[in-house]
Amino acid sequence: SASEEQSILEAYQWLAKLYHHLLYHTKDGKKGLEYLHQRGFTDETIERFQIGFSLPSKDFIVKFLEKKGYHRQLMVKAGFLITNDQTNYFDRFSGRIIFPIRNAIGKTVGFGGRSIGDQEPKYLNSPESELFQKSKLLYNFDNARSEIRKRNEVILLEGYADVLALHQAGVPNVVASLGTSFTDSQANIIRRYVETVVICFDGDKAGQNATYKTLKLLKKVGCHVKIAMLPNGYDPDQYIQEYGADDFHQTILEASASEMTFLISHLRNEYNLNQEGDRLRYVERIISEIALLDSSIERDHYLRELSDQFSLSFEALQQDLVTKLKNSE
Ligand code: GTP
Ligand code: MN
Ligand code: MN
Ligand code: MN
Ligand code: MN
Repeated sequence: SASEEQSILEAYQWLAKLYHHLLYHTKDGKKGLEYLHQRGFTDETIERFQIGFSLPSKDFIVKFLEKKGYHRQLMVKAGFLITNDQTNYFDRFSGRIIFPIRNAIGKTVGFGGRSIGDQEPKYLNSPESELFQKSKLLYNFDNARSEIRKRNEVILLEGYADVLALHQAGVPNVVASLGTSFTDSQANIIRRYVETVVICFDGDKAGQNATYKTLKLLKKVGCHVKIAMLPNGYDPDQYIQEYGADDFHQTILEASASEMTFLISHLRNEYNLNQEGDRLRYVERIISEIALLDSSIERDHYLRELSDQFSLSFEALQQDLVTKLKNSE
């Protein structure tokens, strides 16, 4: 019901405050704080994102929530507590670093909890609910919104830690999807605010595949997309840790590739270019992608690149493109 939802929303705000307090003012919280400092996150960043810590004690927040007058059953529904027997209630996030996830107007509607040891899973999120719909939320959107507008550009990342790291490196116009693949709704939210999106996902196979799918979704809603590619094995946070913020700006962000440059290199993985048949199919595939470009100058540019790279006649490729353009009319 509406009053239940209001109650859960309120509890989220209390808990976010409590978890943040516990990080700084308890002995157990110190472990969490040390972990965050070790990862290079400053107190200023931790404050800004209201990062917190849930005590290893499994029932600390049960008591806290009860004192505030919240019913256990409702808190189970909200995802703060878990119970197997309706008798014993436990903190879902106990022992984890807490990343509050806020909606567009700055209200906390979910938590991401990261383990600080080898505890699996690495991240645990609040369960889906009316209030917390991962497919319709973007991490840090409320914080980043004005900078996204100002810079007329948003940088899209994979993880919470990447958002913190970039923010700390002086790049505030950053958001992340919540560990699920990027969705239509998220693309639409972004498009309402900004046209240009820079995708900067992890530099691994999963990250590249996700980049391809996300690129297609963003194009569909009319975004202009650039790709900031990371070396294999790095995510933005790790890269900044190792090479610093300046290097990240220059080597990764400034060097963002156009969507075609990304596609040309990404789609290559699907073909064995030593075989003539595959080589031709690859060229055909790229021409289909080129046909989707709006600007004839761009189309010409990439066709020339293709012709040079594969020693194919520019005129022949052009003819092929013209046919594809006619067929798609
Ligand atoms: P760190 O190790 O803290 O730097 O996390 P990361 O953001 O680099 O993690 P990773 O690249 O593995 O995953 C990207 C995002 O996917 C995370 O920020 C989470 O939102 C989500 N994610 C990762 N692992 C898990 C998991 O085990 N469970 C769930 N539910 N989400 C996860
Ligand atoms: Mn993972
Ligand atoms: Mn990853
Ligand atoms: Mn990562
Ligand atoms: Mn990471």
